[in-house]
Amino acid sequence: MTKRSAPPLANRFTAEDPLFVQAIGKAFSDLYNATSNPTGYINIGVAENTLTADLMTEYIQTINKDHPVQTTDLNYTDFAGAPQFRTQLAKFFQKRLFALSNEVATVDPNNFMVFNGAGSIIESLSSSVCESGNYIMIPAPQYLAFENDLNRRFGCNMLPLYMPYNKEANEFQLNKRDIQACLDQAKSEGKKVRGFLLCNPNNPTGDIYPRELVEWIIDWCSENSIHFISDEVYGLSIFNKRNGEEFVSAGRIAHEGIASGNASHDYTHVHIVYSFSKDITLNGFRVGVLYTLNQDVLNFMRGNSYFQGVSSHTQKLLTHLLERDDLLGNFLLENNKNLTHSYNQVASALDEFKIKYVVPSAGVLMWVDLSELIKKKLNKDTIDQQDEITFWQGCFDEARVYIPAGQFFKCNVPGWFRVCFTTYSADITTLAFQRILNWVEKNERIIVN
Ligand SMILES: Cc1ncc(COP(=O)(O)O)c(C=O)c1O
Repeated sequence: MTKRSAPPLANRFTAEDPLFVQAIGKAFSDLYNATSNPTGYINIGVAENTLTADLMTEYIQTINKDHPVQTTDLNYTDFAGAPQFRTQLAKFFQKRLFALSNEVATVDPNNFMVFNGAGSIIESLSSSVCESGNYIMIPAPQYLAFENDLNRRFGCNMLPLYMPYNKEANEFQLNKRDIQACLDQAKSEGKKVRGFLLCNPNNPTGDIYPRELVEWIIDWCSENSIHFISDEVYGLSIFNKRNGEEFVSAGRIAHEGIASGNASHDYTHVHIVYSFSKDITLNGFRVGVLYTLNQDVLNFMRGNSYFQGVSSHTQKLLTHLLERDDLLGNFLLENNKNLTHSYNQVASALDEFKIKYVVPSAGVLMWVDLSELIKKKLNKDTIDQQDEITFWQGCFDEARVYIPAGQFFKCNVPGWFRVCFTTYSADITTLAFQRILNWVEKNERIIVN
């Protein structure tokens, strides 16, 4: 029989999954449970927030009861966002994400696009602003799926802008000089940069970027004919204002810029990405949102929405959830308390274990420095990326902890790892670190029966 190979396009997708994706799959099939599977993998790597799940479940049940399924819910709806859903999204963005005064501007439901997840939005948006082979600049360390979202299907490239680590401040710092230098370097190599993606608040570091810097990047992008994509999926999970810092959405900056009449551009290059996965903790519902004033981008995305739409019933549920702003307000408040509490507990465990971390302002993640543990385990004075991956594999196979390594996030300083402090209660996250320490210090392995 003749062996048939995949055609060239399909071949692009037959590559093996990256190491961390393979590990997640393995961990999910054998997860830790204190009673039923105490030797299972503890997953402190995937960004999920279960801390306020009971309250959200209760609210969804209330919405379901007040608005039971009707025959019309079985039909198609606008894949790019049902009119009622867009109307509620506009109110939600106006009040909560943009925190925009009605005197300045009214958020228009027609400027929204709804897809099945922020990942889906980023993929389609990048292919709407890039030709295959163009680049989108993204500060690193960066959310580990950005490159896949940009590149896998539509061939848009990710250009890492490495944020230097300031040891004294214990921060990965984004600055104007490096942004310009990264663009200059790319140009000198003949690379066409079409976008700049800022994750604000940042995944993985939990940093919030100052308004002045975001304004500067928006103007700089306009001057350089670059689209500005603002990923704000953690915009309502601000739990630790370190220096009284405020998160300011690029949507608010754009509308205030237009209202001031002083801007030298029209903000049609600014695109805001949001999701119900993080702040609202409904990651399984698969709902992402784009807000943009760019009609061409909206038209392009509408064409794609058929392939990546959200179910009528999910849109209906979320429409009624957004209508109940009282419930949502209460949820965000409770969730914020839970984030603060869990973060404080995990942070004090890390302090006790003498593990360093970047102090986050927002989100569900901590960026921790395990370089000293790696040195101890591998008996080395200095470490490189190969040492980091060796340590990562050991953590997974022997301590049975899934904790993704910095190089998956394009971090060029070896030894950093990302921890989600909201997947489990703090005591289980602490247990994961205890397992790692026992493995490093006593060579203790988790034995599976
Ligand atoms: C910064 C960031 N953007 C986008 C996504 C994708 O979110 P969604 O579940 O809406 O696809 C994630 C998920 O972890 C994320 O952390």
